[in-house]
Amino acid sequence: MSRVAVVYWTMSGNTEAMANAVAEGAGTEAIEVSDFSASQVADYDAFAFGCPAMGSEELDPDFEAVWNDCVPVFGDKPVALFGSYDWGGGEWMNIWSDAAREAGVNVADTLTQHLEVDDEGLVACKALGEKLAR
Ligand SMILES: Cc1cc2nc3c(=O)[nH]c(=O)nc-3n(C[C@H](O)[C@H](O)[C@H](O)COP(=O)(O)O)c2cc1C
Repeated sequence: MSRVAVVYWTMSGNTEAMANAVAEGAGTEAIEVSDFSASQVADYDAFAFGCPAMGSEELDPDFEAVWNDCVPVFGDKPVALFGSYDWGGGEWMNIWSDAAREAGVNVADTLTQHLEVDDEGLVACKALGEKLAR
């Protein structure tokens, strides 16, 4: 089993619910981004980073600061991106994942949910965690 870090930021809980389901699938606990730093990347084999669409199709600045520190140290390790959105139709994820790939991140998957994660979404989140842990 791979050691998976599920790292997230949330404002109103939707991305947190996704993180908890991904973590459940991966057999671990989700980690709030304020409790994670790039120095911990070496301790894990795979990652799921979650942040909702904020600003104008942007990441939350506190999340983004940690994310930016981690990007150069992921190496080839798989990184899944996930989060919740509303009116932007998921555009923030296109922007985020394109930039990540351009920066050399091995983006293994992306998973988005409109607002509150539904039962189907929870199943998808759990499956993502299971896949990362394999
Ligand atoms: C300050 C703020 C900015 C937001 N910006 C966007 C946006 O640019 N695009 C979008 O689709 N949704 C945007 N949203 C909606 C959130 O992404 C959506 O409510 C999401 O479910 C919040 O996830 P969370 O519960 O994990 O915080 C914004 C919400 C807030 C409060």
